[in-house]
Amino acid sequence: MRKILVIHYSQTGQLTDIANSITDPLNADDNISVEYLNLKPTELFPFPWPLLTFFHIFPECVKMTPQVMAPVETKHHDYDLVIITYQVWFLSPSLPISSFMQSEQAYRLLNAKPVITVIGCRGMWLTAQEKMKQLLTNVNAKLIDNVVLSDECGTGFSFLATPLWMFSGKKKSVSWVPAAGVADHEIKAASRFGTAIARALNALPVHETLKKPTLKGLGAVKVNEKFIASERVGQHSFRIWSKILSTLGPMHSKRRSCGLLIYVLFLLTLIITVVPITAIIKKLITPLTKKRIAEQKAYFAEPSGE
Ligand SMILES: Cc1cc2nc3c(=O)[nH]c(=O)nc-3n(C[C@H](O)[C@H](O)[C@H](O)COP(=O)(O)O)c2cc1C
Repeated sequence: MRKILVIHYSQTGQLTDIANSITDPLNADDNISVEYLNLKPTELFPFPWPLLTFFHIFPECVKMTPQVMAPVETKHHDYDLVIITYQVWFLSPSLPISSFMQSEQAYRLLNAKPVITVIGCRGMWLTAQEKMKQLLTNVNAKLIDNVVLSDECGTGFSFLATPLWMFSGKKKSVSWVPAAGVADHEIKAASRFGTAIARALNALPVHETLKKPTLKGLGAVKVNEKFIASERVGQHSFRIWSKILSTLGPMHSKRRSCGLLIYVLFLLTLIITVVPITAIIKKLITPLTKKRIAEQKAYFAEPSGE
């Protein structure tokens, strides 16, 4: 019997749906058992998010400051494959996931294990996955595949639709803004990844583990080249601001709230200037940068490929 552990946390249930779609074919296989490890932060993150609370967690997200987590135990100590599902918070793996990844338990479960990461996010995941790669290296895990499902409403609208969803709790709260979230048909189609994982596990000799990608050619990720430069600029400014805000005061303090007001204005300016400007500059210099962009896209698409 092959054992798979799914590390999981979701606020709206979107990532749960994605995880379930992928694990459906695995659950249907008599030779495979699937177990979920549902992460529980001791201090719950609210959903919908009060505006200020949403931004108060920003420095801890960027710096990946581990939060206190309630103990959650697994049935076994040893798994053939670990699937880490996560959402992106401020260009970083969400706090419950980054906290777990820095725990003793993560080291015990992930050391020398093949890992598939599954991301459900608005669409800006490149920096978060770079951070995840580092967290995986720290626990000696081996990344063999990455799956990304992004919001369907497109690059521009997602900057509006996703925050509206986070603050109102409704995927479509304003009539002229398209619905936020990953499309239902994309979530359903994610079962193809489970089918491919089951096939790869069943083809393995008994004492061997997965070492190579199992999801190549299945469109596991799509790298949006428009985000490569804006994520780099964003991450640079996030690092500076997270230092300033945490120096001002701890999470939920009045002093941090004051700094946050200035920061939110800065962030809005960044979104309406840097993102479109870098996209336009990118388009203008495309003939000169074609080769480099192709290389960058191939790098970010690894290990599963577009
Ligand atoms: C605090 C916060 C920050 C977020 N930042 C990003 C981000 O930087 N990039 C991105 O693509 N999505 C971002 N999102 C959207 C999430 O990745 C995800 O799509 C959404 O929260 C739904 O996930 P769920 O499965 O937990 O419900 C953010 C969401 C929250 C709550």
